[in-house]
Amino acid sequence: MQVLGKPYRTIWRSQEDPNIVQIIDQRHLPHRFVVEDLRTVDEVAIAIRDMHVRGAGLIGATAGYGMYLAALEASSAGSPQAFLEALEESGEKLIATRPTAVNLEWAVKRQLDVAQKAHSDLFGLVQLARETADTIADEDADFCRRIGQHGLPLLREIAERKNGEAVNVLTHCNAGWLAFVDYGTATSPIYAAHDAGIPVHVWVDETRPRNQGAGLTAWELGQHGVPHTVIVDNAGGYLMQQGLVDFVITGTDRTTFTGDVANKIGTYLKALAAKDNGIPFYVALPSSTFDWEMEDGVHEIPIEQRDSSEVKYVIGSRDGEVMEVLITPEDSPAGNYAFDVTPRRLVTGLITERGICGAAADEVLRLFPEKRR
Ligand code: MRU
Repeated sequence: MQVLGKPYRTIWRSQEDPNIVQIIDQRHLPHRFVVEDLRTVDEVAIAIRDMHVRGAGLIGATAGYGMYLAALEASSAGSPQAFLEALEESGEKLIATRPTAVNLEWAVKRQLDVAQKAHSDLFGLVQLARETADTIADEDADFCRRIGQHGLPLLREIAERKNGEAVNVLTHCNAGWLAFVDYGTATSPIYAAHDAGIPVHVWVDETRPRNQGAGLTAWELGQHGVPHTVIVDNAGGYLMQQGLVDFVITGTDRTTFTGDVANKIGTYLKALAAKDNGIPFYVALPSSTFDWEMEDGVHEIPIEQRDSSEVKYVIGSRDGEVMEVLITPEDSPAGNYAFDVTPRRLVTGLITERGICGAAADEVLRLFPEKRR
């Protein structure tokens, strides 16, 4: 996507030194655009844990590159066996950083699987890790682009029904290109519609506590010229009742193959309000975000609990100076549940890189038959 007219992905290898991984440090957006260099697997673990990068697909791609940096570090191990052990250790370190987004473990396991199956010397193993990291990133971008193409007819159909009046889409958190390598998931059909000349307007939930909607989704929609309005998290239900929302679309950090959707805290409430008002509620995801083992997402998906300081303090900018302010009594405890799970019965459909299906095991497995057990 474009930033100030220049095309960017969210993660890439440095042109000067391909052993340096570069990311957009999202903690500074929307106030400053900062690119950060990652040189070690420890730096990658910090970047994921402290949310310099975030969002399911980007966490996966970053973990893929983290495993490449881990492979570079392990190449001094002496033997392929010692290399693999060091790689496994780094993989465990990365997986421990954030528990809900399944793409993290998926990318680490994919790297380990490639290394374990390769009969190669240390040089070859490092090369394979680099190629796999690049492939994970390229695939993520391509799958998101396809999600946009599959979702586009849904928005076009609403636009036709409204005789050219803008289609009002509501989204929660940031499942935009900043949460992936490019395009995003929830935003991809929106960008596709906008680029096709379909008038779209996006209601952007601010998404407390970290305000990924207000700070990131609003910023990237603005960069692409998509009309949008930031709203407080509690406004969605009212707007739906008043007929001001035509379509709700979110991303997801983990979706069971049975159709239960883990996403940023507050998503469940939007799905309930959408159901009550007869508004379609879609979830967009690449296949890397499916959990192919778990059946009962509501009770089994681990929900990350983050530091209470994210609830008690808000970061903002005044006269160009970025500052953090306390918004609660200093001593009040705060709970910080980062995700919730929307049960499949509230989900109209899942938009994947292979097409759209219902939120049910048989429908998901019809699109991904190779995952049948
Ligand atoms: O905690 P985050 O910012 O990594 O949360 C992930 C998200 O951005 C959202 O839950 C998003 O809607 C799904 S991830 C594409």
